[in-house]
Amino acid sequence: MKLFIDSAVINEIKTAVSWGMVDGVTTNPTLIMRAGKDFKTTILEICKMVSGPVSAETISPDAEGMIREGREFAKWHKNVYVKVPCTSEGLKACHELTKLGIKVNVTLVFSANQVLLAAKAGAALISPFVGRLVDAGEDGMKMIQEAMAIINNYHFAARLLVASVRDTRMVTDAAILGAHIATVPFKVLEAMYRHPLTDKGIQTFLEDWAKAKK
Ligand code: G3P
Repeated sequence: MKLFIDSAVINEIKTAVSWGMVDGVTTNPTLIMRAGKDFKTTILEICKMVSGPVSAETISPDAEGMIREGREFAKWHKNVYVKVPCTSEGLKACHELTKLGIKVNVTLVFSANQVLLAAKAGAALISPFVGRLVDAGEDGMKMIQEAMAIINNYHFAARLLVASVRDTRMVTDAAILGAHIATVPFKVLEAMYRHPLTDKGIQTFLEDWAKAKK
C-alpha cells in the first residue's frame, strides 16, 4: 500500500519524507490556504522533496476552465497530478486531460458509482473522502470495499486513494480492504508510529541495560 501525506505544509512534508514513508502528496485549496504560501511555489517546493505524485487542485466550475488550469499545472513538473471534482464537468475535464497524457486525480468522491464513472473517465487516481462520509453518518469503509470490487472486477487502471482520513484505524481498515493508497494528515501519520507498549519496552530495556554487567 502506498502512503501519501495530505498536507501543503513544507516542514510536515520534510519530516514525513525523512521517515521514508511518503510515496506522494495531496493538496487542496483548503490545505494551500492553511499553509499560507503561494500555490505554484508550494507545489514546486513539494515536487523537489518528493519523487511521487503531487496533486494540485483546479478551482474552475466548468470543464473548459479545469482543462486550462490542468494544462498549466502539468507544465510545472512531471509529477503534478491535476485534481478535478467528481461532477459532470470534472469528469469531462478528466477525460480530455487524460487524452492529453495528463494524470488526473478525481476528488470529492462520495459513492461507488462516482468511482465507476471516474475510472471510466480515465482517472489515474480516485479520491473517496471517507472521513466526511463518516461525519455524515455513513459507512465510509463500505464504500471503499465497493469501490475496490468495481476497480478489480473490470481491471480499471485507476488507483483508489483513500482521503479525508481522520485516524489511524481508517488507515488499517483501508489497508485490509486492499485500497491502493491512503493520503494521511501529518498528525495521523505520526500517530501510526506510536504505541505505548513500544515506549514502555524501550524504557525497560534501557533500565535493564544500565543494570547489566558490561
Ligand atoms: O485531500 C483531501 C481530503 O483528504 C480532505 O480531508 O479532513 O478536509 O475531510 P478533510
